[in-house]
Amino acid sequence: MTILKKIFLWMLLSSEDTCWDHIINKREQTEDLKIKNHNIKDSSCSLIPENQRFDCNPEDGASELACGARNCCWQFSEKINIPSCYYRLEWKVYDYENLTTLENGIDFSGFLKLNGYSTYYEDLPLVKIESTSIDDSTLRVKLYDPLKKRYEPPWPVRSEPKSFSGTTSYVLKINKSIPGFSVKRVSDGTTLYNSSGVGGFIFANQFLQMSALLPSHNIYGLGQHRANLKLSTNWKIFTFFNADQPVTENANLYGAQPFYFVIENTGKCHGVLFLNSNAMDVILQPTPAITFRTIGGVFDIYFFMGPTPADVMKQYSNFVGKPFLLPYWSLGFHLSRLGYRTLEETKEVWNRTRMAQIPFDTQWNDFDYMDRRNDFTYDQQKFKDLPQFIRELHAEGMHYIPLIDAGVSGTEKSGSYPPLDEGIRRGIFIKENGTDIPFQGKVWNPISTVWPDFTNPETEEYYKEMMEMAHKNFEFDGAWIDMNEPSNFYNGHINGCVENNLDNPQFVPHVVGRHLSRKTLCMNSKQFLGDHYDLHNTYGTGQAAATNYALAKIRRKRPFIISRSTWIGHGLYAGAWTGDAYSSWHSLRFSIPEILTYSFFQIPMVGVDICGFDGNVTIALCNRWVQVGAFYPFARNHNSDDTTEQDPVKMGELVVNSTRISLRIRYSLLPYLYTLFFRAHKFGETVARPLFFEFINDSTTHDIDSQFLWGSSLMIIPVLDEVADKNERVQAYIPRGKWYNFHTKEPIISCGKNMTLTAPIDTIPLLIRGGFILPMQKADLTTTASRKNHFELLIALNEENRAEGELYWDDGDSLDSIQERQFRWLKFTVENNTLQNKLIEDGLYDGKMTLGKIQIVGLEMKTVPRIMVNDNDIRKDQIIFNKELSYLRVESLYLNLKQNFTLSWMDS
Ligand code: GLC
Repeated sequence: MTILKKIFLWMLLSSEDTCWDHIINKREQTEDLKIKNHNIKDSSCSLIPENQRFDCNPEDGASELACGARNCCWQFSEKINIPSCYYRLEWKVYDYENLTTLENGIDFSGFLKLNGYSTYYEDLPLVKIESTSIDDSTLRVKLYDPLKKRYEPPWPVRSEPKSFSGTTSYVLKINKSIPGFSVKRVSDGTTLYNSSGVGGFIFANQFLQMSALLPSHNIYGLGQHRANLKLSTNWKIFTFFNADQPVTENANLYGAQPFYFVIENTGKCHGVLFLNSNAMDVILQPTPAITFRTIGGVFDIYFFMGPTPADVMKQYSNFVGKPFLLPYWSLGFHLSRLGYRTLEETKEVWNRTRMAQIPFDTQWNDFDYMDRRNDFTYDQQKFKDLPQFIRELHAEGMHYIPLIDAGVSGTEKSGSYPPLDEGIRRGIFIKENGTDIPFQGKVWNPISTVWPDFTNPETEEYYKEMMEMAHKNFEFDGAWIDMNEPSNFYNGHINGCVENNLDNPQFVPHVVGRHLSRKTLCMNSKQFLGDHYDLHNTYGTGQAAATNYALAKIRRKRPFIISRSTWIGHGLYAGAWTGDAYSSWHSLRFSIPEILTYSFFQIPMVGVDICGFDGNVTIALCNRWVQVGAFYPFARNHNSDDTTEQDPVKMGELVVNSTRISLRIRYSLLPYLYTLFFRAHKFGETVARPLFFEFINDSTTHDIDSQFLWGSSLMIIPVLDEVADKNERVQAYIPRGKWYNFHTKEPIISCGKNMTLTAPIDTIPLLIRGGFILPMQKADLTTTASRKNHFELLIALNEENRAEGELYWDDGDSLDSIQERQFRWLKFTVENNTLQNKLIEDGLYDGKMTLGKIQIVGLEMKTVPRIMVNDNDIRKDQIIFNKELSYLRVESLYLNLKQNFTLSWMDS
């Protein structure tokens, strides 16, 4: 090895760890390849292998000349996204100064002093770096301007963290000779993030960039994007800038969640949040490495050390806030469409769905119900009897959700439309730069649209009053908030935006159209907390927070909100749907990674429009979509007005049948699903869950995104393509353990293998995992009715004949059930052939809770067992036993779940 090569390796590894051995090997191999490049003037450039290039000229049209001006290496690459202009190893424009260890002995503070020119305007002369150990498993590293306050996102609401002094599961290291830092896991020495001397660290006013080496290729998160669950590291650019953009690959979509999750090569996991709401590109490259490239704010980076997936989620939820406790009814089936042009049309669909005996809880209306598409009104002609219809729904134990668009009408006769008059009077609309005039664009409203500024503290009260005014007229139960990226039909104003450095920054991330104001507001419009340029990505979550506040005040029950746009911490206020999906098998297939990715973001209540929004759906596709849609946490069928009707009845007998079968299963499992949502609310756990959350040491699961779990114990294996549909068979990976076919109760023992499962035309394959107990209730036509039925337990024994499960129960709608202890929270265990219930936490809920029936799968007995409840024999006619299937059912139990009981079985 030449001296030069040695220096090169030493520089690469000077960031102290041994975990990058694989890089050395790869590097040694590439060195032998002898890169032929006539343009390279500096030989150290040629030593940088392709996958270790960090882009030094991310603007379009990089050239050798421009590259030279940046003091970077140039070697033309024809391959897409592989940079031709890349940083040399010694590239830097900052030097560390005054680095000191803080009092607790673990945290640092120091400065980076500018000593060069990045080629981006206004490099900060001085950057402060500060690390704060928030607790043993959460670390924050912040780099900011010590001389002038820069923008930081208002959500998630947080207080300045206090420093912790104890043993931490991580160490932060700074190599004083080069900008950057590394974070290492103490227990096994894995370096999780190493930005020392990697890429080009830049902190200019409108260009902030940091790259880091990552410990593995198992990277997840970084939403909202259409991608596989496990993200590609093949030079992928993920752009974060909320946009009204139908769901497609390689596009910035409705939400921005700059949080990623990594499974390290050891199986341990960690999460990283880049808390920055400016328009940004995040690049994953095969090194493996990540680059954050944003155009404003500060670097505020949080590390959540896990080590299990559930630990990462819990730690993350402690920071961003835990999901709201949802009303029980919201777990039912929702039916919607754009284009129920009258109340009569709405009622017709409502009626035919109910007549078909399809479980159904919530009727929705799109903007059709509004007077001239204006928020907080209803059409007094076409929807004249809306208030009466809602009363009828309520009498049936059903609910009603209307659409509320983010913008309100900006051109109305003065005195005729309070949402505009009041908004102007209170000065709460987003304003034109340098004036007090509301910024005007146009969405669905007749002439123009203005946007409430949810960063203005007055807006919350304004919103509450507007919603209250509407609620007095028609008593809606929740809110569907839309167009809140915010979307605009103009690119800024009708004639665009004036030239300014916010709308035309030196670098524009890869947003669709490469214009920030495309289909949204001008970036220089003014909000209470700053420029729209900075706040844009937080708009939807701001609306969600205000809507949540309003609904809670008005209804005094649990708010239920579904939003299109999301930002970090959104799940505390609302759920989400993924936006306009095309009615294709492709969208159906990607709906699984889409909902699973939202789980990482602490937005468990999420769904994709069942049967798709745009384009006409076929019967075959809709048939399979309703089957998996019944297992989306948020189950709503919705479509556009220029497509054919796709409610189950309209789609015909096959779809009706599938809908009925799958929704009945969903409704029967609601006590289980509700308990999972309670655990999400309490602990930040996921509801719809990737397989690897439960089987982290089985690396086959790390790539799976065509199957998913509800909690730990129900595996959903949908039919997602036409071949599987026609063959009525689906390929699935069954992780090690004992499983049972939910429909037939047949056992499957797997040591981790691929299997083919039958998927009859109207049935979705489902497996129950041995070792678990699922609380259930007989399905009914509404959740209001089904939650009154007796409880049932489905007990799936594992190979040791054990099982356990949990039930959280309350009245399903009170705001303060948990604070007032109006709940029951029970644990069920099976051990030594005995089922027992125990309190997890004592509660006061006094509604009826009767256990009517149990089913046990995997019960191997020679004869029909004798069954004793609290030491008393029960009648033989209550017992049904199938020896071949090892399946036991015990009926007519009528046990009070609030009291302790035992139920045992033995050979008779
Ligand atoms: C947006 C929404 C869609 C809705 C439509 C009309 O496109 O994504 O769901 O139906 O607006 O309100």
